[in-house]
Amino acid sequence: MTPLRYTLLDRALAAGVIPDGVLRAGSRYGAGARRRREERGGVEAQEQRLAALVAHMSSGPIAELPAVANEQHYELPAEFLGLLLGPRRKYSGCLWPDGVTDLAAAEEAMLDLTCRRAGIRDGMDVLDLGCGWGALSIWLAERYDVRVLGVSNSQRQREWIEAERGRRDLGDRLRIVTADVNELDPGRTFDRVMSVEMFEHMRNWRALLARVAGWLQDEGKAFVHVFSHRRLAYRFQGTWAAERFFTAGTMPSHELLLRFADDLVVTERWAVSGAHYAKTLMAWLERLDAHAEQALTILSGEHSALEARRLLATWRLFLISTAEIWGWRGGDEWMVSHYLLERRGGSGKKPLVRAT
Ligand SMILES: C[S@@+](CC[C@H](N)C(=O)[O-])C[C@H]1O[C@@H](n2cnc3c(N)ncnc32)[C@H](O)[C@@H]1O
Repeated sequence: MTPLRYTLLDRALAAGVIPDGVLRAGSRYGAGARRRREERGGVEAQEQRLAALVAHMSSGPIAELPAVANEQHYELPAEFLGLLLGPRRKYSGCLWPDGVTDLAAAEEAMLDLTCRRAGIRDGMDVLDLGCGWGALSIWLAERYDVRVLGVSNSQRQREWIEAERGRRDLGDRLRIVTADVNELDPGRTFDRVMSVEMFEHMRNWRALLARVAGWLQDEGKAFVHVFSHRRLAYRFQGTWAAERFFTAGTMPSHELLLRFADDLVVTERWAVSGAHYAKTLMAWLERLDAHAEQALTILSGEHSALEARRLLATWRLFLISTAEIWGWRGGDEWMVSHYLLERRGGSGKKPLVRAT
């Protein structure tokens, strides 16, 4: 049952009575409280909690509540997401190096970095796992001579990408399949399996990485992008944001993936400052605010006027609070992690770090 305090917060948000400054201060307080909660009891207690989390993430279904994630984000009208995301609808952290000043360029900068780190080359067969509205799949099909299979469990995402495929004349270089990763069987192997911000929705990383290993050709590699914390890993539970936006999700630490690398080994790993994600989230908020009337009209098409106002206000708080979290200490706590993995015994390259 939803705690009363979340219902009261929803009502106050829908009524528009909480100024942004208060939402920001509350979000910063929440981020600090979370950090204290995850650090309580010192290193020994932290290690026990980590062991429990690793055990949890080594059992059960790969994705625990796929329908809830869809309801919270992925089956919203495509036009609504279009009002806040950038032109490529990349629903994940973008990159703002010097000289990049707008969201469109930040989307492209991260897509370019992602493909370079994954070692994409012409002629490859690529699986984009959790493809969203196709930012990476379309980039791959446009920029490289590759065959791409994009997979997500959202029907609306597939419809959107298929329309874009026609508009951009990408032909059969790009194929999109709607499937829950729990049941996915692509029926062939790939040079690259790439996944951008889908693992955070997953429970059983051990089983997922074993499947990914099976979908790779002998010399194939997997590239994984997750948002992360530099040292703390925890499940999203017991907060308004967890309840409204990330039920059954996980905040991985930068190290967490190494715990599950049985069939695959991590050969390279990179840290991306959380400051890039904070900027991305602020850019999404700016766009949503600039299109607030349109957003209300779209949401009112599927909900009552009151529910539409509540939804819009909860999205605003979601963006504000996550911008505060990833901006915490200049982006040096919550961050983004990139990994390159290959099959154990693949090319003979030594693992970067061995999980214990
Ligand atoms: C945060 S979005 C990232 C989308 C995309 N990779 C991007 O960067 O724009 C997460 C993606 O994972 C997909 N996803 C979540 N749970 C899934 C599941 N159980 N099976 C398949 N896809 C899933 C969502 O539909 C969505 O496409």
